[in-house]
Amino acid sequence: MNEMIQKKVFPVTGEGYNMPAYEEAYKNFAWEDVEKQFSWHTTNKVNMAYEAIDRHVDTPLKNKTALYYSDASRDEQYTFEELKALSDKFGNVLRKYGIQKGDRVFVFMPRTPELYVSVLGTIKVGAIVGPLFEAFMEGAVRDRLEDSGAVAIITTPALLSRVPVSELPALKHVILFGEDGELAEGQISYEKEMEQASADFEIEWVDREDGLILHYTSGSTGKPKGILHVHNAMIQHYQTAKWVLDLQDSDVYWCTADPGWVTGTSYGIFGPWLNGATNVVRGGRFSPQDWYSTIEKYKVTVWYSAPTAFRMLMGAGDELVKQFDLASLRHVLSVGEPLNPEVVYWGMKVFAKRIHDTWWMTETGGQLICNYATMDVKPGSMGKPFPGIVAAIVDDEGNELPPNRMGNLAIKTGWPSMMRRVWNNPAKYEEYFRLEGWYVSGDSAYMDEDGYFWFQGRVDDVIMTAGERVGPFEVESKLVEHPAVAEAGVIGKPDPVRGEIIKAFIALRDGYEESEELLAEIRQFVKIGLAAHAAPREIEVRDKLPKTRSGKIMRRVLKAWELGLPTGDLSTMED
Ligand code: WTA
Repeated sequence: MNEMIQKKVFPVTGEGYNMPAYEEAYKNFAWEDVEKQFSWHTTNKVNMAYEAIDRHVDTPLKNKTALYYSDASRDEQYTFEELKALSDKFGNVLRKYGIQKGDRVFVFMPRTPELYVSVLGTIKVGAIVGPLFEAFMEGAVRDRLEDSGAVAIITTPALLSRVPVSELPALKHVILFGEDGELAEGQISYEKEMEQASADFEIEWVDREDGLILHYTSGSTGKPKGILHVHNAMIQHYQTAKWVLDLQDSDVYWCTADPGWVTGTSYGIFGPWLNGATNVVRGGRFSPQDWYSTIEKYKVTVWYSAPTAFRMLMGAGDELVKQFDLASLRHVLSVGEPLNPEVVYWGMKVFAKRIHDTWWMTETGGQLICNYATMDVKPGSMGKPFPGIVAAIVDDEGNELPPNRMGNLAIKTGWPSMMRRVWNNPAKYEEYFRLEGWYVSGDSAYMDEDGYFWFQGRVDDVIMTAGERVGPFEVESKLVEHPAVAEAGVIGKPDPVRGEIIKAFIALRDGYEESEELLAEIRQFVKIGLAAHAAPREIEVRDKLPKTRSGKIMRRVLKAWELGLPTGDLSTMED
């Protein structure tokens, strides 16, 4: 199968891209040269928000549109100068309440301009910003605020009910956007404060190794991990957005990811604005019509999305595509899950564009293995390492494997946007670096003889559903909180559109009978406790679940049951 796919290659289509030919770019590259782009090259002090926004106000980009925003009820645009002014004011609001460098400030909002202003303003005072998906429910919000010791949250009245303020002693300030009624104690009105805030603001200059952003992400065990990135990451954001996304300041760029996810910050905020590009943000829910009309309306030139979205668009049919003028598109990219060759073929057919796959992780902060505009694309492959990055397939001892052998996808340590810490959990951080000199990704892959990398799967049990990482342990823990559930095991079940869906196997407590209503209630329980995307789409009741003698649920046995495969070695299973 792979043999066959590998033979099909889509060659480089044209010239005029930022990145030189791949081999040349790789050979001549040095991160130190990229650093010279930024002011701290001379001052040693930096601030991401300055480099992404403020810096452009002293250039011809000043009055250029930085952000197009629309949803069902709003249609707005903001220049770089306007975004600077708004985020300066918001910085003053935060300072007024004593928020300072190093504090954790969470942004829990639907995708609106105010979300972007909040993120920028938070960074401007040197605080560490924690973006949260608006879909998170109370349990998920509590875990993250508690673990990070957040002192403030910016949210909306509708989402506030999911913030258990009274259980979070460190949380001193709740800034509400869209509240026109009475404010309770400790609550602050975003609009009122912004109206009164001074426009004079002095940015907090920080060190390049100071904290910038905290993204929580799931692993196979334990609660979500807080991955800390620092201002230094901008070197990578800038250069990858320039070469991989091929952003120029004339581009209208649409990253479809929410800032609650790392793609929505590294490449929905930092990368594009560091390069002076115009960002498109479309609020509201996904629909194929809406997406195509967004491209048409803004004449989007560069589009960064995810396989699940492309598969859903593909499912909506080719006829629909023809109803829109998508001629502005010049570069299309994907991230987050394996990009099936069929989707790449479809992209060629309907957009006459190659869809460029990119591989990276929350922990890596930026793109590492990609298909570039100036390189042949092999559909099904993630591409080749970015210049300055050394990637390899290694065995469990850290020995590099020859081409075409499957093993651990590992990266030589030391790229600019590498995570600097797992919040409160140094042991977890160390696990990634257990093989001397390597960052171990947790993905398995192989490299072909041309140096292209091919994704094979996760080494652990992490589920990837519609591009979102879900830790089975988190879902299992929530399931067993339900009074009817005695034990639970959760796996990813292959799905043609979402990549995987979440399937739970449960055993019921004595006195409970399996019924449609009960299963629906259990599903709802997880949905309310964690998030809609974490709720199992399928629940199967079993008398007993397979466990090791030490009591650990054997997910690989559940998976084998599900797929009708042999269960393999069961020597550690309890009787
Ligand atoms: C998976 C997303 C196949 C992979 C930026 C990785 C991919 C995890 C690809 C990180 C790709 C990401 N092909 N799989 N191009 N890109 N993944 O942290 O398993 O949400 O380890 O970051 O997504 O997911 P995360």
